[in-house]
This record gives sequence, structure tokens and C-alpha cells, in this order.
Amino acid sequence: MNFEFTEEQLMIRDAARDFAQRELLGDVIERDATATFPTEHVKKLAELGFMGMMVDPKYDGGGMDTVSYILAMEEISKIDASVSVIMSVNNSLVCYGLQKYGNEAQKEKYLKPLARGEKIGAYLLSEPEAGSDATMQRTTAEDKGDHYILNGTKNWITSANSASTYLVMAQTHPEKRHHGINVFIVEKDSPGISLGPHEDKMGMRSSDTHSVMFTDVKVPKENRIGEDGFGFKFAMKALEAGRLGIAAQALGIASGALERAIQYSKERKAFGTEIANHQAIAFKIADMAVKVENARNLCLKAAWLKDNGKPFTTEGSMAKLYAADIAMEVTTEAVQIHGGYGYVKEYHVERLMREAKLTQIYEGTSEIQKIVISRGLLRD
Ligand code: CAA
Repeated sequence: MNFEFTEEQLMIRDAARDFAQRELLGDVIERDATATFPTEHVKKLAELGFMGMMVDPKYDGGGMDTVSYILAMEEISKIDASVSVIMSVNNSLVCYGLQKYGNEAQKEKYLKPLARGEKIGAYLLSEPEAGSDATMQRTTAEDKGDHYILNGTKNWITSANSASTYLVMAQTHPEKRHHGINVFIVEKDSPGISLGPHEDKMGMRSSDTHSVMFTDVKVPKENRIGEDGFGFKFAMKALEAGRLGIAAQALGIASGALERAIQYSKERKAFGTEIANHQAIAFKIADMAVKVENARNLCLKAAWLKDNGKPFTTEGSMAKLYAADIAMEVTTEAVQIHGGYGYVKEYHVERLMREAKLTQIYEGTSEIQKIVISRGLLRD
């Protein structure tokens, strides 16, 4: 078993770390407070090739492996999870789904600009009545011969406003339940699309989250991905890959909080010595570090399985479940170690704690991961 990273993987990690420190750290608190979309930061991320990291270079992607993607996601999430969620959705839901299941014309027209980061993608599955139970799609796609007509509402859509390319799941044959769902590439400026207000979120406040309404939106038939009725399977496969990105995001939030807690406990003095010298703090740090290391290993194992063409559904959900839960625990402890300073914005850990909470909720709650894991184990 080889635990060494390659030179290329280390270069990518260092480039992500450098980018996060130089470009994101300076105004992250302000962007969070004002919920300002990181337009310029995402452009720079694209210049680094981080918006289409795993896309084949023949479709203008970076041709990097999933392990590198995990390393980059961790570094960026340490500093700003609003930026890393935009990156994650574009890479491991949208680009992944298009590259794996799109046809050549779709890849040429839609994947290439997404992989170059010139355009941003969004993944539209959740609905007001179809969150965890994704089979209950109420958005309809009526087959009109050479085109479809979409009607319905999608909820909690990451990058809804900044994205140009939507991947939309919609029901064409309700009598077939989830076998009747299709997935479409929809251009955001199509007539009949409107957005709800910017969601005023607890964390990851500078990524733009909206509901999206479709009213008689015409979508050409060539924009359907795969065979008629392939949409639910597409959604599940994309989520499998997407969960690796969110697992790495949760890992980064946790490891960012751990780094800050270590630094603070070596500087802050109480009872005549640095608080790191008190076992009450040192043991907390040890517990946090074990959790972060476990989460990192789970993420890398799932990524390695994917890179080697092996099934990774169960391991991906394990990584996402564990990393999200420990991100909540580790960030809470980091706030505790900082005492009163942890509760104010300047020290970043309160923001990391708010961000951690979202990782337990989106791309499948922790409870959904337990369904996926237990089915994987019990059905085999
Ligand atoms: N790959 C391929 N097919 C799969 C699959 C997978 N990973 N998981 C399920 N399926 C197939 C099954 O084989 C089954 O097909 P058949 O009927 O042909 O046998 C079908 O899907 C239904 O499977 P289940 O009976 O297991 O379905 P279920 O409804 O009981 O459970 C679930 C499925 C795992 C709970 C699923 O609904 C799920 O993952 N829900 C969570 C959805 C989610 O994560 N939403 C978040 C939205 S995305 C987001 O947050 C993005 C963002 O912006 C950040």
C-alpha cells in the first residue's frame, strides 16, 4: 500500500493552498458578512484549471485525478467553503455527469466552457417536496416531439444565479415513477426561467443559492442526456461523485479549524502558560487531529477507488457521513478552545462552524448516507 502522493498531486495541493491564502483569505469575512458572490475569485480558480479538474484535456479539462481534487478541495475549504462549494458542484456533479453520460455534441457545446471555467454549472434535483426522497420529482418535462416543455420549481440550487448551464431532472412519465425521470441540459437564459430570492443562509453565505422556477420552458430534444427515463440513474451517479467533493469540503473545514485551534493554543496564555500546555486543551487537540486524519483517509480511499475504476458508492458515502459529522465536532471544539474569541468573526472558527453544519445537510443528509451505506452492505 502506497501512502505517498505523487509530485503532481503535491504540486496541485500546494497551488490550491497558495491560492487560498493569497486570494481568498483577505476578504473572506467581508464576503461572508455581505453574502457577496466571489466572481473574481472563481475566475482565478478557473485560470488554475480547478473548475474542470478531472475533465479529459480533449474537452479542455485539467486531466487530474480524484486524489488531486480531494487535496485541492481540502485546501480551499480550509479558507472559504463558499468558493469550494461552487468548485465542487461544477467539478463533481456537473462536469462529471456531462463527461460520463453526455454525447459528443453535448460535450463540445456545454462541457468545454464549463471545464475551462468560463461558465459555471448547476445541478437541479431538489424540489420543495423532493429533497431526500429524490424519486418524487414534481417538475414535469412534457415530450412535444422535437422538444420538451418544462414546468415546476427546484429548491436550494447552488450557483443558481451565477451558472449559465443547468442540469435539470424532470418527470416525463409519472406512471413509471423514477424510471420516467429525464435529465436535461438547460441554458439559464431560456425564456420562462425565473429565480426566487437569494437564500439568506447560516453559512457558505457568499455562494448563491436560490429556488428556480420553470414556466413552459422549451428545451430541445438533443439536450436530453441519455435514453428516455435515464434521469434518476444519472442523478444518483452524479451524487455519488459529488459526495466525494463535499466530503473533502467537510474535511477542509475541519482541518482548517484544527490548524487555527493549534495556532491559537500555542499563542494564548492562561494560568501562567500557553493553553496548549494544559492537558484540557492538548487532549482536545489530539481528539480533533485523530478525527481529521480519519476523515482524510476515508476521502482519499474513496477517491483512489474511483481513480482505479472500482466501485466507490459505499466508501464515498462513508467519507461524506464521517467528514461532515466530525467537521461539526471539530469546529465546535475549535470555538471552545478559542473561548470568547471563538465567538466573534475575526478568528474565523465561528464561520467554519456555520459552514460545517451545511455539510451534514446537502448532497444527502447524514441520514441519507446511512441509507446508502447500509444498503450497500446489506444488499450485497
Ligand atoms: N447508482 C445507480 N442507481 C441507483 C443508485 C446509484 N447510486 N442509487 C439508487 N439507484 C437506483 C436503484 O437501483 C433503483 O433502481 P430500480 O428501481 O431500477 O431497481 C432506484 O434507483 C431506486 O433506488 P432505491 O429504491 O434505493 O431508492 P430510494 O428512493 O429508496 O433511495 C436514495 C434512494 C439513496 C435515498 C436517494 O433518493 C438519494 O440519494 N436521496 C438523496 C438526494 C440528495 O442527495 N439530494 C441532494 C440534492 S443535490 C445538492 O444538494 C446539490 C447542491 O446544490 C450542493
